Amino acid sequence: VSLFLDFKDCIFARRDTRHFLPDAVPEKVLLEAFEAAHCAPSVGLSEPWRFVVVESQSTRKVIYDNFLNVRNRAQEQISSSEALRIFSSLKLEALRDAPVIVGVFCEMPPPETFTIGVQGTLDTVTWSCACAIQNFWLSLTNQGYSAGWVSILDFEVLSAALNIPNTWKPMGIMCVGKPATNYDKQPMLQKLNWKTRSLNPVVIKV
Ligand SMILES: Cc1cc2nc3c(=O)[nH]c(=O)nc-3n(C[C@H](O)[C@H](O)[C@H](O)COP(=O)(O)O)c2cc1C
Repeated sequence: VSLFLDFKDCIFARRDTRHFLPDAVPEKVLLEAFEAAHCAPSVGLSEPWRFVVVESQSTRKVIYDNFLNVRNRAQEQISSSEALRIFSSLKLEALRDAPVIVGVFCEMPPPETFTIGVQGTLDTVTWSCACAIQNFWLSLTNQGYSAGWVSILDFEVLSAALNIPNTWKPMGIMCVGKPATNYDKQPMLQKLNWKTRSLNPVVIKV
C-alpha cells in the first residue's frame, strides 16, 4: 500500500528516525520492506543481505548496553566542551523504544567461490547490503513508517550477542516503527544544530 505517488516525495521524506510512536508495525509492512530490500542491486547477484529480527527483550538490552559502551567511548574523543554538550544530548538510537529492531548482516562469499565484480574490492559485497538497507528504508517511508540505522556498536560484541557466524559481517541495527516526528523535514542532526546539510552534491567533470 503506497502512500506516495511521487518517487521524489519519498526520497525527500525519508529520515533517520530515533523517535517512534508505540504503534506496532504490521507484519505486511515489514514483509513489503524486506521484499523491497531484496530487490536491491548486488555485486555479481550475490544477494548478501541477511536480516535478523530481534524478538528477545534480553537481547535488546544487551544491544542497548553495547551501544552505551561505544557511545561513552566516543565521548572521550570530543575535545570541545560545546560539542560534547550537544553530542551528549543527542538521541542516537531507538533500541529500547522502537517496536521492531532488525540486525542487518552481510554474508561474505567464501574465498574459494568466484563472484563477478569483487576483484576491485570485496567492499562491493557490503555496498550491496547498503543498497538493500536503503530500499528497506524507502519502502518503510513509503508505507508511513521509518527506520533509524544504529552503527554506534561494537560489531564483534553484536555478532556474539546474536550468535551470528563470522562470515556474516554486521552492517548495524535498524530500529523500525511509526515516526513520532519528521524533525521538520530535515536531518535530526541539523535540527539540533550539530551539523548543517550541504546544499548541493559535489559533482565534477574531468
Ligand atoms: C551507515 C550509517 C550509519 C549511521 N549510524 C547512525 C547511528 O549510529 N546513530 C544515529 O543516530 N544515526 C545514524 N545514522 C543516521 C545519520 O546520522 C543520518 O542519516 C544523517 O544525519 C542524515 O539524516 P537523514 O537520514 O534523516 O537524512 C547512520 C546513517 C548511515 C548511512
